[in-house]
Amino acid sequence: MRLNVTVNGRKLHADDVWEGESLLYVLRERLGLPGSKNACEQGECGSCTVYLDGVSVCACLVAAGQAEGREVRTVEGLADGEKLDEVQQAFVEAGAVQCGFCTPGLLVAAHDLIERTARPSDAEIREALAGNLCRCTGYEKIMDAVRLAASRKAEARAEVPR
Ligand code: FES
Ligand code: FES
Repeated sequence: MRLNVTVNGRKLHADDVWEGESLLYVLRERLGLPGSKNACEQGECGSCTVYLDGVSVCACLVAAGQAEGREVRTVEGLADGEKLDEVQQAFVEAGAVQCGFCTPGLLVAAHDLIERTARPSDAEIREALAGNLCRCTGYEKIMDAVRLAASRKAEARAEVPR
């Protein structure tokens, strides 16, 4: 089948897609977007987290056919050109960048949280990141980064005239 999907604002298509292959495979292997990582392929680790029509999902659990005609935003679509998103900037500043497997999913999950929740509590941050696994960290710097990004985002929102 031909899959038509909008990714990071660009209308793209991929040919010869098997409906049962995953959206993650399509993104990485057919559309040249390797930011979303393939660490477990079982919905367990969160390294493949993307937005699908604005809702964060594990791309490894979405069949390609389910993405037909829909909008996907990947970790590559968080930055505005060279300008990092607040979450990305905060991860850099807080020293929260872990390896290339877990970090992309953590960024998308954290981005999703602070879009939905202006000033998340620590419990809300932990819950939002509970599906993003890294065995190499105590998550403290990641918590710092999310707090920093959330407070900056809340301040930026407060400055926007109503
Ligand atoms: S690769 Fe999708 S959740 Fe692990
Ligand atoms: S899985 Fe990425 S640093 Fe632990």
